[in-house]
Amino acid sequence: MSEPRQSLHGEWSSRWIFIFAAAGSAVGLGNIWKFPYIVGENGGGAFVLMYLLFIIAIGVPLMMSEILIGRRGRRNPADSVRALSEESQRSKFWQITGWFGIISGIIVMFYYGVIAGWGLDYVFKAAVGTFDGASPAAISQLFDTMITEPFRVMFWNVVIIAASVFVIIGGVKKGLETALRFMFPAMLILLLIAVVYAVYSGAFMTGLNFLFSPDFSQLTAQGALIALGHAFFTLSLGQGAIMMYGAYLPKRVSIPRTILLIAGLDTFIALLAGLAIFPIVFAHGLPAASGPGLLFKTLPIAFGQMPYGSLFATLFFVMIVFAAFTSAIALIEPAVAWLIERFAVSRKRAALLVGGLITVGSLGSVLSFSHPQTFQIGGLSYFDFTDQLTANTFLPLGGLITAVFVGWMMRREAVRDELGMMANFWFQAWQFALRFIVPLAVIIVFINAIGLV
Ligand code: PHE
Repeated sequence: MSEPRQSLHGEWSSRWIFIFAAAGSAVGLGNIWKFPYIVGENGGGAFVLMYLLFIIAIGVPLMMSEILIGRRGRRNPADSVRALSEESQRSKFWQITGWFGIISGIIVMFYYGVIAGWGLDYVFKAAVGTFDGASPAAISQLFDTMITEPFRVMFWNVVIIAASVFVIIGGVKKGLETALRFMFPAMLILLLIAVVYAVYSGAFMTGLNFLFSPDFSQLTAQGALIALGHAFFTLSLGQGAIMMYGAYLPKRVSIPRTILLIAGLDTFIALLAGLAIFPIVFAHGLPAASGPGLLFKTLPIAFGQMPYGSLFATLFFVMIVFAAFTSAIALIEPAVAWLIERFAVSRKRAALLVGGLITVGSLGSVLSFSHPQTFQIGGLSYFDFTDQLTANTFLPLGGLITAVFVGWMMRREAVRDELGMMANFWFQAWQFALRFIVPLAVIIVFINAIGLV
């Protein structure tokens, strides 16, 4: 069967650029900022193990489905799914998964740029040597003070949003390609430097044990939900980003190999971040459950003590900002593509509109640190609320619907056509995962977390 649709926004010029872009979207604050802090809050090894299981059993099969939908649909997530449901003579209802994605992307951006903004602030703190020889208590204080300065944080947040919108206006491909070429090598090198420091000067074995020797008594239903949500979040699943990037993927590229590479890199970077952070946590007797400040309260201690520390620290935070930035682009692009395709507005207008909406929505996150009493929803800070609503609810729900759609609703020939040369065994294993494992796992974890059983 031939491929009739084409994307309005062109195609990636090579497989590698797609891999870079998808990996750029996957690797972000989720890996370096969020993963370590939720591991710290949920007891370490057992949580990590569960998260790895979710990546393999749920994340990888689902990522394949999302790329497949995007590449066949060649539109924004909602319209791609709609086109494919028409092709398989199914109800239009299924496009709801694309909707979840577009909306989640925007809600994630209500807080994502804020954390990237913290990172940007730290670039300058690092460059002027603020961390040099500073005590853990002083470094902790630095963070607690910064987050309660709304003007400062909002300023950096707007810089991040504006930069993302700027690249999106120019077309995602050009901007991303340049950014990503140097980001990954730099990220790996800097993380390795931090890990080497942790090996020599941190409580490395304690950190290693905390991350990798599971203590199953620490597992909770809520922890399972957080691990599940994070598997989606870190691979950019359930949000439409991967569908969107898949829409620009040339037909001849093999999907499965590409995905293993992306998921592998993403996981590797998260684990490296953990290995850099926890030895420092334990060496200085800091609480592992330090919450969203963990990264900012630990690594500066290490940088403050190593030779050329302010240089490395500066580069490190620059790299975090870049990682966040390439993810932010992926978070915004589905909504922009939707506006362009649906209402025939220009790319510029669409990007500015979405950027404006995000700027307004992110105010609540900024203020939830300085005015916690006012900016809260249902007992959670606005910041936590947007995070939990997306990572622990919308993304898994969107993912579940996608799995059911591709696993049960799409015509088999259409699916087979996209996966081309995949060996029969793996094809069947993949279908099994989509049909049974993903839906069951999501439902079981949800039910447990709500406390129904
Ligand atoms: N995967 C990104 C991270 O780990 C976040 C993200 C989610 C990006 C969804 C795009 C889409 O930081």
